[in-house]
Amino acid sequence: MQLENLKQNITAILEGLDSTENKLQSICDYLEAQISYYDWVGFYFKNGNKEELKLAQYTGEPTDHIIIPFGKGICGQVAVSNENFVVQDVTDQDNYISCGWKVKSEIVIPIFVNGENIGQIDIDSHTANVFTKKDEELLEFTCLKVAEKL
Ligand code: SME
Repeated sequence: MQLENLKQNITAILEGLDSTENKLQSICDYLEAQISYYDWVGFYFKNGNKEELKLAQYTGEPTDHIIIPFGKGICGQVAVSNENFVVQDVTDQDNYISCGWKVKSEIVIPIFVNGENIGQIDIDSHTANVFTKKDEELLEFTCLKVAEKL
């Protein structure tokens, strides 16, 4: 993974003149295209004042899981834990919402604005045991930069 190059391009996308929505879509498209084992990339955000997440921009196969209650699935757990969640093998998880039989692993990183967990980036992979500390570093960086624009 060319971490520095990826970070530079994420920064460039966010510093462009596009709308925030288009920038988030571009980040999904960019990460999915650049990293071979990122098969679905999306952003979920807190849905108003409800205790649930709502799907925003994404790249990959359409999902039925547009709304995810806090506490449910990997995404809903991150909404309440405020911590990164790296799942190397989804079959090990009881509290998991499947987005298709092809998905083998998942990583979710929270996004904080003024100390509040307002959403997350979610990546699904069709390969198990694939995520490393470099993915966490790249995605934490992405979430920090995104937070500056929200
Ligand atoms: N697998 C997630 C649901 C969202 S999809 O991956 C797009 C979860 O368990 O929360």
